[in-house]
Amino acid sequence: MALIGVFDSGVGGLSILDEALRQLPQHDYVYLADSANAPYGEKSSAWIAARSLTLCRHLASQGCDAIVVACNTATAEAIKQIRETLSIPIIGVEPGIKPASMQSQNNIVGVLATEATLKSDKFNALLNTLPTDCRFIKQAGAGLVPLIESGKADGEETLELLAKHLEPIQDAGADTLVLGCTHYPFLRKSIRKLLGESITLIDTSDAVVRQLKRQLESLQKANLAMGHGTVLFLSSKNEVSLLLMAQDLMSADLNSHIVEARILGEVR
Ligand code: DGL
Repeated sequence: MALIGVFDSGVGGLSILDEALRQLPQHDYVYLADSANAPYGEKSSAWIAARSLTLCRHLASQGCDAIVVACNTATAEAIKQIRETLSIPIIGVEPGIKPASMQSQNNIVGVLATEATLKSDKFNALLNTLPTDCRFIKQAGAGLVPLIESGKADGEETLELLAKHLEPIQDAGADTLVLGCTHYPFLRKSIRKLLGESITLIDTSDAVVRQLKRQLESLQKANLAMGHGTVLFLSSKNEVSLLLMAQDLMSADLNSHIVEARILGEVR
């Protein structure tokens, strides 16, 4: 059995944890939400890199066998440094622009991500590897993460802001939309309301968890346990609201796991 750390600026990485509990329920998880500092997407590269490294170091010091950086922004700004510093497998999350370019029928793809992700060298390097006949309409989802963090993913205010952000993507006629921030899968319902059922939504959580599984196999820790493991929720802001949000946002049956929630003290 493995202990897996899952880290995000807030509740977004719950979309990855949800998939991990579905595919790999037998392991133990520590979910770390840095909600006191969310959103990361509007902060400087240096700040995001330093904070992400500090928190991943903390997870490693708690005995994690692998860490999922369940945040596109932190992956873009910090994964190289985290991998150079820690000797355990580090799995990152990137906007699924490659699968989107392959699935799009009309070669027009919308990409909704944080400003930091869209500006990052890592994202732009990935973009440059893709065929030039596919047009990407990039849109920063400013203001969406705080609304999701405050439990308003399905609210009217969120729908209005989302409508503004999605307008250029809709006007361009995109048939595919990349959910390039782990918070955005929680907007699925609102996105469908605005864009309808025919647009293809690309979310990489399944691919990320399959990658985690491969890494656990290489550590020979993939299949050593049966049943359901434990989940520890750590929040830098409010552990009770993190737990309630997890119960609300995730489809996994948390009751079948031993669940605990704690406040994350100061980490240096
Ligand atoms: N969930 C994050 C991501 O995937 C970060 C959102 C934020 O804190 O701005 O990019």
